Amino acid sequence: MTTSNTENATSAKPEAAAATPAEPKAPADRPYSPGLTGVIAAETAIGFVDGLNGQLLYRGYPIGQLVEKGTYGRVAELLWTGEWRKSARLVPAEVPEPVICVLRELPDHTHPMDALRTAVSVWGAWRRPHWPPTVDQAREITALAPSALAAFHRLRNGLEPVAPNPKLSLAGGFLQQLTGKDPDPAAARALDAYFIVGAEHGLNASTFTCRVIISTRSDLASAVCGAIGALKGPLHGGAPAEVVSQLHEIGSPERAEKWVREAIARGDKIMGFGHRVYRAYDPRAAALRKVAEGMSDMADWLDTAVKVEDVVLRIFGELKPDHVIKTNVEYYAAAVLQGVGLPPDLFPPTFALARMAGWSAHAIEQASADKLIRPDARYVGPPETPVPTFQR
Ligand code: ACO
Repeated sequence: MTTSNTENATSAKPEAAAATPAEPKAPADRPYSPGLTGVIAAETAIGFVDGLNGQLLYRGYPIGQLVEKGTYGRVAELLWTGEWRKSARLVPAEVPEPVICVLRELPDHTHPMDALRTAVSVWGAWRRPHWPPTVDQAREITALAPSALAAFHRLRNGLEPVAPNPKLSLAGGFLQQLTGKDPDPAAARALDAYFIVGAEHGLNASTFTCRVIISTRSDLASAVCGAIGALKGPLHGGAPAEVVSQLHEIGSPERAEKWVREAIARGDKIMGFGHRVYRAYDPRAAALRKVAEGMSDMADWLDTAVKVEDVVLRIFGELKPDHVIKTNVEYYAAAVLQGVGLPPDLFPPTFALARMAGWSAHAIEQASADKLIRPDARYVGPPETPVPTFQR
């Protein structure tokens, strides 16, 4: 079956197509990779994910060292520009009035992820960031997002938004705008570390979405709205809240063995374990575990989490010896997000706040490549058939 559609201009001429790359093979003659697994769809100098060896680099720097030596502001600047600058800072932005007005009108039952997407969309309508995306636009949208999410959280609780304190970091400013109080410096630092860890992770679904939208020469706000939509799906960004309820259900380390074996036997997923790419301990989980260990309020929770983790890893090793399933980032993200006092329904949009830096870095990189992303589909429908004629 061939298509005569000009948009899908890959008509079936297999012999000629083999001879010249200018006329590619028909889709039916090319390999199909469900989920695009294994397909290289971009070249990037931003982040490197080595799933086999459990390594994550941002512009060449290991994630563990960035958490130890960096701030989110410095890391975001590194992702956008490739430069590691001591003076780089990001401070929380004021939320423009049109954004506040729309957030005010959202029903109380609005999911915070939808509220964040709406806020970015209204910001885009108001600010009109043009293609190509720039580092200044990236700074603006990244600094706006925590303030907008905090404003929504206060409004849904019947409270007025509070103005950001420009002396605070983005993470500290987010906590301050949520609570209306100066944040505990240790909590602000822990959340900053979470932001660093969540900032970038290669060509995951939301980043790919962002690049596809920018590749049409659309604007940064539209690309970030699409990315938030992709991140909203439970297979991408929803696990830390479930880690909390899972540990709550398990209750104590002594109950873990029975609980985990029964869950796996039922075919349930153990939240915070396994990853599409990592076949080793997720380096982000290791970095966040260290952060959580420094949070005094989390000591009891963490003690249970570490003991349950040991049990889960032992059981996976026994039941799936040919398949390495290790702890993923969400397991210890749950500890940090809980420890800084966030309610579980703010966990997914807080991940989006962190990922703003990575999305916008990829948007800038994609725009400089300026290549429309347009894969093909393999047609599996009926062959060409005349349209049946009805009696008039
Ligand atoms: N619990 C139980 N079984 C698991 C788990 C888990 N956490 N992870 C993988 N498996 C099983 C799979 O069901 C599969 O079993 P099968 O061979 O009998 O079908 C086998 O192990 C191999 O799975 P993978 O190919 O390694 O994993 P896949 O790519 O299919 O899924 C995923 C990855 C979706 C993350 C999965 O591990 C999972 O659902 N984990 C729990 C949810 C979670 O923690 N998500 C957060 C991921 S990190 C992030 O998104 C930032």
